[in-house]
Amino acid sequence: MNKNRIKQILGTEYPIVQAPMTWITSAESVAAVGNTGGLGTLGSNAGQKTITNDVKETSERMRNEIRKTRQLTDAPFAVNFIVPVKGMTAQYFNYSNVILDVMIEEGVEFAVAVAMDTPDFSEPFKKMKDAGIKIIYRDNTPSIEKAKAAEAAGADIIVATGYDGGGAIPSYPIGTFSIVPMIADNVNIPVMAAGGITDNRSVRAALALGAEGVYVGTRFIASTECPASDICKQDIVQTESTDLIQFSITSFNFRTIPHKLACELKGLDDNGASPEELNNKLSGTGGGYKRAMLDGFLDEGISGVSYAVSLIKEVKSCKDIIEEMMLGINFK
Ligand SMILES: Cc1cc2nc3c(=O)[nH]c(=O)nc-3n(C[C@H](O)[C@H](O)[C@H](O)COP(=O)(O)O)c2cc1C
Repeated sequence: MNKNRIKQILGTEYPIVQAPMTWITSAESVAAVGNTGGLGTLGSNAGQKTITNDVKETSERMRNEIRKTRQLTDAPFAVNFIVPVKGMTAQYFNYSNVILDVMIEEGVEFAVAVAMDTPDFSEPFKKMKDAGIKIIYRDNTPSIEKAKAAEAAGADIIVATGYDGGGAIPSYPIGTFSIVPMIADNVNIPVMAAGGITDNRSVRAALALGAEGVYVGTRFIASTECPASDICKQDIVQTESTDLIQFSITSFNFRTIPHKLACELKGLDDNGASPEELNNKLSGTGGGYKRAMLDGFLDEGISGVSYAVSLIKEVKSCKDIIEEMMLGINFK
C-alpha cells in the first residue's frame, strides 16, 4: 500500500483535520485534537466570548489564541484563512490580511484556506508558500475546475465538501459520495473528504471514494472540549436530520436546527425578503452561531449542523471520537 500522503504532509498520526468553526473552536479544542494525533484548526473568533469589529483587536486575539494553543500542545495545528473574494467588503479584506500576517509572525505551520466564491488566491498563496505555511484548501462550493486552479496555485491538500456538511453549505446540492471521487480523480495532490463524516464507517467510505483523509466539523461540536454550550451539545444529540431547515442570504446557504430565529429567517427567505433584511435579523441578536451555539440561547441564533446529525448520539471527548473513527484502519 502507498504511504498516506495526508499524514506525511500534516505530520500527524491520523489523517484527520478538525474543521474550523468560528466561535466554537478554541486553544483547548484544537490541543485536544492535536494531542490525539489529528490536526486541529483555530477558526476566526476562536476562544472568544465577545464580538469585536476592530481589525487590530481581531488579530491580537488570534495571536493570543495561537500562543495559548502552543502552551497546551506540541502538536501542529492550523488557522482558518478566509481567501479574499471579489465583492468582499474592505473590512473582510482587512480581517483576512491581518490574520495572515499573524500566522506568519507566529510561525503557524498550516492554513485551512477557505473560499466562499470565485477566489483570487494567487497573492495569499504565494505569501503563505514564501513563509513555509502548508495550505489545506477548501472551496465552499467545490468543482473540478476550482480544485485544479488551487492545486496550480500551490495548495498542498484539497478538501472536497459535500452538501451533507455543516456551516455555510455548497451552492450545488452535490453530496459527499459524488464530489469526493470527482475531485480525487482530477487532482494530483491528496484530497480530504468533508460533509457528514461522523464515525468509523464514514471514514472508511471516504477512503473508498478516493480521499486520503477526513475533515470533520459537526461531530466535534458534540465533544467535551468544544467551547459550545452544553445546551447546544445536548440539542445536537437530540436533533434528527429530518428536523433541519435551510435558508439563504445571497449565495450563503445555511442549514440549521429549527429554533425560533432560524424559523423566522426561513420564513423571511421563503417570502422573498432582501439580503439586508435577513442579515439585520441574523446579526440583530449578536451573531448567529455565537448566540445559539456558544452562548446557548438557541432561539436567538442559528445552530449549523451536518445532515449526519442523527448519527451523533453522545457527547464524547475528542480522543474517543477520533479513536473510534480510526479504529482498525491501517494508515501507512
Ligand atoms: C457551526 C459551524 C460553523 C462553521 N464555521 C466555519 C468557519 O468559520 N470557517 C470555515 O471555513 N468553515 C466553517 N464551517 C464549515 C466546517 O469547517 C466544515 O467544512 C464542515 O463542518 C464539514 O462538514 P461536517 O459538519 O459535516 O463535518 C462551519 C461549520 C459549522 C457546523
